[in-house]
Amino acid sequence: MSDNHYRREIFYRFPGIYKYLFREEIMKKDQEIFQERLNHHHDELRWLYTELYHNDDMFAELCDQMYQYFTARRRVLKNRDLEREKNPDWFRQKDMLGMMLYIDNFAGNIKGVSAKLPYLKECNVNCLHLMPFLDTPKGRSDGGYAVADFRKVRPDLGSMKDLAALADKCHKNGMNLCMDFVMNHTSEDHEWAKRALAGEKEYQDWAKKARQGDGEYMSRYFFYNNREIPDEYEKTVPQVFPTTAPGNFTWLPDIGHYVMTTFYPYQWDLNYGNPRVFNEMMYNFLFLANQGMDVIRIDAVPYIWKELGTPCRNLKQVHTIVRMMRMIAEIVCPSVVLLGEVVMEPEKVVPYFGTVEKPECHMLYNVTTMATTWNSIATRDIRLLKKQMDIVNSLPKQYTFLNYLRCHDDIGWGLDFATLKEWDMDEPSHKRYLNDFFTGKYPGSDSRGELYNDDPVTQDARFCGTTASMCGIEAALFEKDDEKLKRGIREDLMLHAYMLTQSGIPMLYSSDEIGRLNDYSYKEDPDKAADSRYIHRGAFQWELAGKRNSKSSVEGQIFQTLSRMEQIRSQESVFDKDCDVYTYDVHDNSILCILRQKGNERFIGIFNFSDSEKTAWMQEEGTFRDLITDQTLELKDVELPAYGFMWCKRM
Ligand code: GLC
Repeated sequence: MSDNHYRREIFYRFPGIYKYLFREEIMKKDQEIFQERLNHHHDELRWLYTELYHNDDMFAELCDQMYQYFTARRRVLKNRDLEREKNPDWFRQKDMLGMMLYIDNFAGNIKGVSAKLPYLKECNVNCLHLMPFLDTPKGRSDGGYAVADFRKVRPDLGSMKDLAALADKCHKNGMNLCMDFVMNHTSEDHEWAKRALAGEKEYQDWAKKARQGDGEYMSRYFFYNNREIPDEYEKTVPQVFPTTAPGNFTWLPDIGHYVMTTFYPYQWDLNYGNPRVFNEMMYNFLFLANQGMDVIRIDAVPYIWKELGTPCRNLKQVHTIVRMMRMIAEIVCPSVVLLGEVVMEPEKVVPYFGTVEKPECHMLYNVTTMATTWNSIATRDIRLLKKQMDIVNSLPKQYTFLNYLRCHDDIGWGLDFATLKEWDMDEPSHKRYLNDFFTGKYPGSDSRGELYNDDPVTQDARFCGTTASMCGIEAALFEKDDEKLKRGIREDLMLHAYMLTQSGIPMLYSSDEIGRLNDYSYKEDPDKAADSRYIHRGAFQWELAGKRNSKSSVEGQIFQTLSRMEQIRSQESVFDKDCDVYTYDVHDNSILCILRQKGNERFIGIFNFSDSEKTAWMQEEGTFRDLITDQTLELKDVELPAYGFMWCKRM
């Protein structure tokens, strides 16, 4: 037997012994791999770092720490890195299907999620986004987005060990794991924040007792001892939560300072102008990646760089930082991809992909398309959606969008108002119409939900509700109206079918697969009552999921059809990532038609966004197969019921 054969035998049968016998060789090989990746990026990384921080010592520390995190990375993850370096498009395959869920709502804790993986597999999900689960103070957590410790899981959810075990189990089951990296701010309970406060208190005591205080931790945030600079900022920085958390600064009476808080007063903005903040946050990022993450969602990324006299959003330094993160990930943990949360107007979103030579995020949320989709439901008019889809479809194919109907946040009406104006719809009154429509106030609307941050000054408001409630299922069940119910289910499925037809990666919001309705119980919880986003963050109802196989139940009808569509999508080559995707005019403003073309294969999706029967005026050559019903048909002036849809492939 050859030496190689022996080695392979030992490697597979006795990995511990293999590691011991060949440790020096393994270390040397690891070092070479790291060195090669570092060499590839070193010059650019150094250049960007120096441009931002002019600090060689801190850069040297960063490189040293990158090596430490690389060394600490488990062998299975290092192997995953090597495989994915050979297949960098792994996350863009047509069978990718995401689902986002709250651990406690879904299964109590991390071990509970692990036990429920068979359900997620039944949902065809292979990318699981766990909503924030790191330690956060109760009642001051912003749904977990106020992190008190980046290295500790919220104790009631489990431990880092449970997380790594879940990641391993997901990987063995062909699933990827995604988590949030909340990098713009920390909780006021984070150690740095506490030290900043203590340091300042000490300093003030010193003023009395002549002792030196330590401002190092204060320099990790933005502190001001009077209103002068905060007032200057307020002139140019818009507000994120105008009613639930007005203003961008919070007064700390204990130390007589203002601190910058773009989001809630207990979320202190980090100062990325300080290289210590950047370095330490990168170490946190790598620590979390090393637990076995495949996707890291960088939360609120446009906000991370602040500069007086600007809106403090999307500044060029943000792109420098994201580009550096991308390189750092490619050096230490190249199997990890970055999902940017950029909830901005389209021209601000796309730059976060970077360029082909200098990429930034691997994936971005298709936020404008999402909002425009709901606009089309309320107006029964797909013209704006078609325009928006044409823009997205004309972008380079490697730009990967994450498509979704609903997520844990509100829907902000970030539409193309310039175009709407040309069609005689002006912004304030159109937003009012949308909010009236979706809260069910508008005559003929069956949608149910609540406003979010209804700003009395700007008259602006966003909207919260689940897909099923927005589609009228809640109203139909309440009114016991069977016709309405059928229509609501059709609307819900049509929207999911349309989402699955778009190019990019579909992301489901947990329990939309069984048509979850709004949950009003948050109003009884004083920690949640003021934040209407909790209307769509209710507990998962397993008794309803239990009906998923019954064709007569709402849950079963949604679950079964959705599941069938997901399977078709993962098998048919017309859903490949490199297909050409176009919209197609069928001469009715309520009907969206999407064409997917791969070589000679031709797929046509037809979606009726109106609550009445409509005809798609079209004359397609050849015979088609309806992929859902398996029937053969011709696509000539196709009639669709209210909210009907078709998925057809040319035979
Ligand atoms: C992101 C989250 C949102 C949170 C905010 C502040 O936008 O999606 O839920 O409130 O960041 O961290």
